[in-house]
Amino acid sequence: MTDPQIMLTERVQQALAAAFGPEHSDADPLIRPSQFADFQANVAMSLGKRLRRAPREVATELAAQLADFPGTVEVSGPGFLNITLDDSWIAAQAQAQLGDPLNGVVQGEPQRVVIDYSAPNAAKEMHVGHLRSTVVGDALARTHEHLGDTVIRQNHLGDWGTPFGMLVEHLVDIGEQAAVAQLEAGQGTAYYQAARVKFDSDETFKARSRARVTTLQSEDPETIRLWHVFMNATIAYFDKIYTQLQVTLTDADIAGESKYNPWLEQVCDDLEAAGIAVISDGALCVFPPGFTGSDDQPLPLIIRKSDGGYGYATTDLAAIRYRVDELKADRSLYVVGADQALHFRMVFAAAKMAGWLPDSVSFEHVQIGMVQGKDGKRFKTRSGESVKLSSLLDEAVERASAAIADRGYSPELQSEIAQAVGIGAVKYADLSVSHDSEYIFDFDRMIAFTGNTGGYMQYATARIRSIFRNGGVDVDAVNGPVLLGESAERALALQLLGFGAVISQVAELSEPHRLCAFLYETASLFSTFYEECPVLKSEGLIKASRLALCALTLRTLETGLSLLGVPVPERM
Ligand code: ARG
Repeated sequence: MTDPQIMLTERVQQALAAAFGPEHSDADPLIRPSQFADFQANVAMSLGKRLRRAPREVATELAAQLADFPGTVEVSGPGFLNITLDDSWIAAQAQAQLGDPLNGVVQGEPQRVVIDYSAPNAAKEMHVGHLRSTVVGDALARTHEHLGDTVIRQNHLGDWGTPFGMLVEHLVDIGEQAAVAQLEAGQGTAYYQAARVKFDSDETFKARSRARVTTLQSEDPETIRLWHVFMNATIAYFDKIYTQLQVTLTDADIAGESKYNPWLEQVCDDLEAAGIAVISDGALCVFPPGFTGSDDQPLPLIIRKSDGGYGYATTDLAAIRYRVDELKADRSLYVVGADQALHFRMVFAAAKMAGWLPDSVSFEHVQIGMVQGKDGKRFKTRSGESVKLSSLLDEAVERASAAIADRGYSPELQSEIAQAVGIGAVKYADLSVSHDSEYIFDFDRMIAFTGNTGGYMQYATARIRSIFRNGGVDVDAVNGPVLLGESAERALALQLLGFGAVISQVAELSEPHRLCAFLYETASLFSTFYEECPVLKSEGLIKASRLALCALTLRTLETGLSLLGVPVPERM
């Protein structure tokens, strides 16, 4: 089958080459959905300017080249091409898509894609920003895998640094068992605060903590054992959240900051030997060109502090080498807060200077916008603490359960549906807005069953399933043929043909919200179709065709939601 926008792009490019010369054969024909036709091509406007000819004339010549074409082409206004596809073409493509197990998704040359996501810090509460990174990163991982890419998940945990001296000493003080219980229960913030209070008020504790940093860095076996006790309990809590969230991350994907310790010295030595890093105020720094501070002075990327310690940037430089050389990444996505944009730009620039980041690989910061409370500030609890994620997810499920309480489900079914709806709502809310925009965390809007929400998408899917259940029809046995009589049938079929292109775009641009928008539009067009075109009450070929459209819609919604990582309950 062929996606209409891809078909149109190719055809208009051929027409461009035929009318104006082969040098135009890969110009972007600017195909867009249109209010007045199915699509419009806007290329004549810009091309006219370049050729110093009236765009309308250019458009007319293009239209003439599109003679043998599965639709009609009209020149409109100052030089737009309005394109309306033939019903028979749309029906044939929809029929082909029905027979395509990939539902129109086109797998390209497989790539190795490293995705750095989630990455909470061990000594602090995992916050909603990490939640959003986790959800968006997981959707990207699933989408790339669906496209045939090899995905290498990297959970770059904050598991190293000077605070760990104090955290390990606190563990010694309260006892391993008590510490593990507290950390596994997600009380990491209280644990950290208790350690901090002692550090600030108790000189002997402070001295012990400092000494512990030294033994940690020199990898004293007992200290490393204690650090593992601390980390394992912390990871057990993270895993609880990942399970609740139904994300694909596992412990095998953990590649925390500590992983890169053995290579940090080498990073500094290599950069210094190459003359890329220089000592400035006692610290070893790289000054990538083009970065200046507020005082117009070159901005340093510090890779070794004056006390000899390494930092976040050094670790990330080592991680870049590892991802390029060992993991053989073609692409590496960093799904991390937008507030770290400067850090990544500088680290990528430094790696390029060192020749560690060849032009053949693409390293990209997928910026995550801040999640805000209703007050427009960073999302916190009423008492000003960062929100505990496991309670937040529990609350989502409770609210979902209350929202469906009057539907008469058995208690087991109600809790199963509430789980899917609550978690799905939180995830969908993170995914449906562009990843770099800020948004306000609002349970009431998330759990709603109308609008572009998880609940609406789940409901739309369950409703189509019930058509097959009520009609006693096996959805896998449906095979058309697709006939397009009513305008609602045609609009739905045309929409469904866009699935493959949207999946490719999500992967290429790292923008899962495009898939949400597509699925929402699909569900809306299905609603209109379902109101206007009886399915089970129709007969013969019309019934067969309508069942085929239902089956295609169901598969599109189910596949789309599974790529987003949004669970779909069987019934709702
Ligand atoms: N732990 C960091 C944070 O919470 C995110 C790490 C992102 N990944 C990376 N390679 N720097 O801010």
